[in-house]
Amino acid sequence: MKDRIDALLAEIAGLKCSTENEIEQARVRLLGKRGDITRLFEEFRNIAPEMKRELGQKLNQLKTAAISKIEEMRDSAEQSVAVSASYDLTKPGDSYPLGSRHPVSIVRKEIIDIFRKFGYDVAEGPEIEDDWHVFEALNFPPEHPARDMQDTFFISSGNNPVLLRTHTSCVQVRAMETMPLPIRIVCPGRVFRNEAISARAHCIFHQVEGLYIDENVTFADMKQAILLFAREMFGAETQIRMRPSYFPFTEPSAEVDVSCNICKGTGWLEILGCGMVDPNVLEASGIDSKKYSGFAFGMGVERIAMLKWQVKDLRNYFENDLRFLKEFETYI
Ligand code: PHE
Repeated sequence: MKDRIDALLAEIAGLKCSTENEIEQARVRLLGKRGDITRLFEEFRNIAPEMKRELGQKLNQLKTAAISKIEEMRDSAEQSVAVSASYDLTKPGDSYPLGSRHPVSIVRKEIIDIFRKFGYDVAEGPEIEDDWHVFEALNFPPEHPARDMQDTFFISSGNNPVLLRTHTSCVQVRAMETMPLPIRIVCPGRVFRNEAISARAHCIFHQVEGLYIDENVTFADMKQAILLFAREMFGAETQIRMRPSYFPFTEPSAEVDVSCNICKGTGWLEILGCGMVDPNVLEASGIDSKKYSGFAFGMGVERIAMLKWQVKDLRNYFENDLRFLKEFETYI
């Protein structure tokens, strides 16, 4: 019996089962009702009394060894099941939610890229401005009714009040005051107007305005630049239409519509205002209006973005609702 116990101890020490099934079979073979160890215990009853002490100890040792071996194998089998479940190498990886450009940024970049191709530089200026750069130098005399066109947020009153710029034309004034001629720039930026917020108006929006000043710049040059821009922006078949308009800083002035075959009604959509820079404006910035002429234009970025994606409510651009913003993920 002693040899059989030793042989079983050796067998248990060398046992290697990896699945639940194999472990259960080993348990039944050793400790089951008819298992090897159970049978040894039965035989033990008939053993000579003088041998009982030594063999009894050995048998108990064998049983403990079998039980702990089986537990040990169960533990490691459970662990490897857990490990293999969490390391399923065939599982596709979790994708990280990536941010994307805001639709206003996408359109602003598109507009700027088009004018960069035409040789325009980008100029920027402060959002908090003074009356001179926003109104006075742009030929809005005090009390001029045109100031009412742009409901202004004033920060201070006085001789040259500080205010939030109502258009980016003030950046053009700063450029005319400081840059060497000729000037060819686009001025992107945020502008502020004291307006009730609705689907079609907001107190903050973005503009890109442009300015070209050189000798002999004509209305025809302006029309051509705007036509080329419209075709780059809205497609090669696009037509433009100019309607007479009024701005204090340009003379003559026009509003520009682009042809539109999906929109209902007239088939034309207004996209920008433009005109030949008024000689008073050139002179206010120290430019000789006898020698130089130029044109300026300005457009609202949200407005163009609304046309491009058929967005009906301007407020979508300011609310940062991820469901809206995610629609623009594919634009880089
Ligand atoms: N500054 C004008 C606006 O805010 C746009 C404009 C710019 C019109 C330049 C003509 C020339 O509406």
